Amino acid sequence: MPRDVTLLWALRSPCSFACPHCYFGELEVHKEAPPEGPGLLSHIPLRDLDRTVMEAFAQTLAGSPVERVVLAGGEPLDWLPTLSLIKTIKDAGCEVVIATNGVPLTRPGIARRLVEHGVDGVSVSLDSADAATNDRLRPSRSGRVGHREVLDGIRTLLGERGSGPGPRVGIYTVVIRDRPQEITDVARLAREIGVDYYVPQPISLPPDHKLFAERCHTPGDVPAVEDELRRLQQDPGGLTIPDPAYTRQFIASISTQDSGRVEDCYGGAQLFFVQPDGSVWDCPSDRRIAATPPQEHRTIVGADARALFADRPACTDCSHFSRDCVNMGPLVLGMPRLLAREAT
Ligand SMILES: C[S@@+](CC[C@H](N)C(=O)[O-])C[C@H]1O[C@@H](n2cnc3c(N)ncnc32)[C@H](O)[C@@H]1O
Repeated sequence: MPRDVTLLWALRSPCSFACPHCYFGELEVHKEAPPEGPGLLSHIPLRDLDRTVMEAFAQTLAGSPVERVVLAGGEPLDWLPTLSLIKTIKDAGCEVVIATNGVPLTRPGIARRLVEHGVDGVSVSLDSADAATNDRLRPSRSGRVGHREVLDGIRTLLGERGSGPGPRVGIYTVVIRDRPQEITDVARLAREIGVDYYVPQPISLPPDHKLFAERCHTPGDVPAVEDELRRLQQDPGGLTIPDPAYTRQFIASISTQDSGRVEDCYGGAQLFFVQPDGSVWDCPSDRRIAATPPQEHRTIVGADARALFADRPACTDCSHFSRDCVNMGPLVLGMPRLLAREAT
């Protein structure tokens, strides 16, 4: 059985950061009105699975088509059982990539365990090279940690890795309309710290989101973003960055809010999204989830990965294109490049 599936597994709902643009919504808002319905995400861990259920599923990854598991959330490294789950997934022969806010890496032992477990990649979120700006865009709940601790966490991980082979360490930046300069500013900072890869990603918000007008790009914002992405492509300065096709998708996605048909989409073919409650979707796009008929709703609870991903098309033809889609590219098609599994 070919191993070509990537699971984006949002393991746990809670996060010590309170980013107002987060796909998981705002804790304070959800305390008043918890979101209901398939696919809805929240930082309130009401339906998060028990570790034994997760472990049972992870053990079935051996011999399954799953090649890579990207552990995200919420924050995956604020929960101790994540470390043993990583070991189970690695023992099943899968690559493991962690998407983290970076602060847990400052805690004694966490960075060392990631190195010892042979984690393949660690992607750390940082939205600005400027500390005050980053901490406004990505505020921690306590107000006591932010940009400085994120950089400390990255340096701790790089130090634990030393001259060893892994993990590869990267920075992901959510790009908003009034700060195109972050594309090259964060790249410069990433080079200074010595990280391996860097991925700028367009912000994606539904049109009724309160930050939509302020943060989401309009066609008028395209030239400035295009210029920054071109400069990054021309001079990555030793960083591994997504390939030029990603830059074209980035520009195409911020040029319109419309849906579009994505031929040969990999959602449901090579990418699946697992929610903290165990629900499995073709991808995290809310449009795609909303369009999934109830008889096709699936879960990892009690499931065997060998059967769950056995019957799937070679590719799908999706009519639910949104800005989200572009953020999935590096996870699936781009990950071998970012993990230096192929020539750049
Ligand atoms: C939801 S977080 C989970 C992992 C981890 N807690 C972290 O902070 O990286 C994964 C990534 O999604 C990004 N993200 C969240 N909401 C987004 C949105 N509306 N548009 C684009 N990216 C978003 C975050 O900035 C982060 O880089």
